[in-house]
Amino acid sequence: METPTPYNKRVYLDNAATTPMDERVFEAMKPLLITHFGNPSSIHAEGRKAKSILEQSRKTIASLLKVSASEIIFTSGGTEADNTAIRMSVKSLGVKNIITSPIEHHAVLHTIEELEQEGVIKMHLLNVDSKGKINAAELEEKVSVLPHCLVSLMHGNNEIGTINDIAAIGNICKQYNALFHTDTVQTMGHFPMDFNTLNIDFAAGSAHKFNGPKGVGFLYVAKKNKIAPMLTGGGQERGHRAGTENIAGIAGMAKALDLSIAELEKDKVKIENLKAQLKQELINHFEGIEFMGDTENALYTVLNVSFPPILPSDLFLFQLDLHGISVSAGSACASGANQGSHVLQAIGAKHDRNYIRFSFGKFNEAEELKIVIDRIYKIFQEQQS
Ligand SMILES: Cc1ncc(COP(=O)(O)O)c(C=O)c1O
Repeated sequence: METPTPYNKRVYLDNAATTPMDERVFEAMKPLLITHFGNPSSIHAEGRKAKSILEQSRKTIASLLKVSASEIIFTSGGTEADNTAIRMSVKSLGVKNIITSPIEHHAVLHTIEELEQEGVIKMHLLNVDSKGKINAAELEEKVSVLPHCLVSLMHGNNEIGTINDIAAIGNICKQYNALFHTDTVQTMGHFPMDFNTLNIDFAAGSAHKFNGPKGVGFLYVAKKNKIAPMLTGGGQERGHRAGTENIAGIAGMAKALDLSIAELEKDKVKIENLKAQLKQELINHFEGIEFMGDTENALYTVLNVSFPPILPSDLFLFQLDLHGISVSAGSACASGANQGSHVLQAIGAKHDRNYIRFSFGKFNEAEELKIVIDRIYKIFQEQQS
């Protein structure tokens, strides 16, 4: 092993949790916080300027997704976008059955569970295999018999990276007249999106997952779906979402998505190489490691690794943090205060392992991976001595 690097050089490999802001996004946002600070609902010059920035941002995002500007509703992030799609399709579109999977983000799962507890819908969970994949035949079987149905299945899983074929799911939904909501929070800005060719009714995006600001996102709502606002008390967003718009955040998000899509191929190659390199280095240095999720078809940004158990999960994460490595951990068991990961539990992951999610971004560099390997090696040695 090489000479250790001081721990004050931290390595951030938690980009699925959030990404650092691109400086070009920050530059685009600055004048909107200080100079063009108007409220887009005001009719004076400052207000009109803010309104034009708002609508330009909407057009930019819509054209990147190949949809109409009127199909984009700005929200406070992915959670609000998911909530709006699910709650409002029940309230406004008469949904009575929701088909989903046990590995969805809690913004989806908890919302559906709550609606079921309120007695307004029935929830139907699909099975997932050990890689987190659904079975299209099971989906079709359920969709074909359930009336007034919404299917909510994410594009890319945030914990294990498994990807759903949203084109195929959309086709099944269309065939049986079901609505389709997909959480695209982990894929937006990382995969080309053409919603015009996909049968999708709702899709959620969040700026902080593609090097934009936190606390801002959007919901794509296909034109034919007329939904009431989830937040009431103002006519903003053409009556779809009350509340003064986060203009700087929205413009920053539009800039971030524009940059992400323009530079997608370049960034993707870089990140794919980083993931492949870390994977190989881990195989070279640690015996008995395994990779979680669908390793054949996964997010190129996420690598979920199962390590032999050297420490309880939370202590392993703590050690990594102490050694200057920022990652996420999950465990497959729910014990005491530790609720574990519902995703790892759902795919039947072994209980006696340490699971670490490494997630990469465009600002990571290959040298950082060597540091990570050195430090994890050191933690293993310390535990084994
Ligand atoms: C798949 C997925 N959906 C939804 C969210 C929530 O997004 P936000 O943090 O913008 O509310 C996240 C964030 O971790 C996510 O990974």
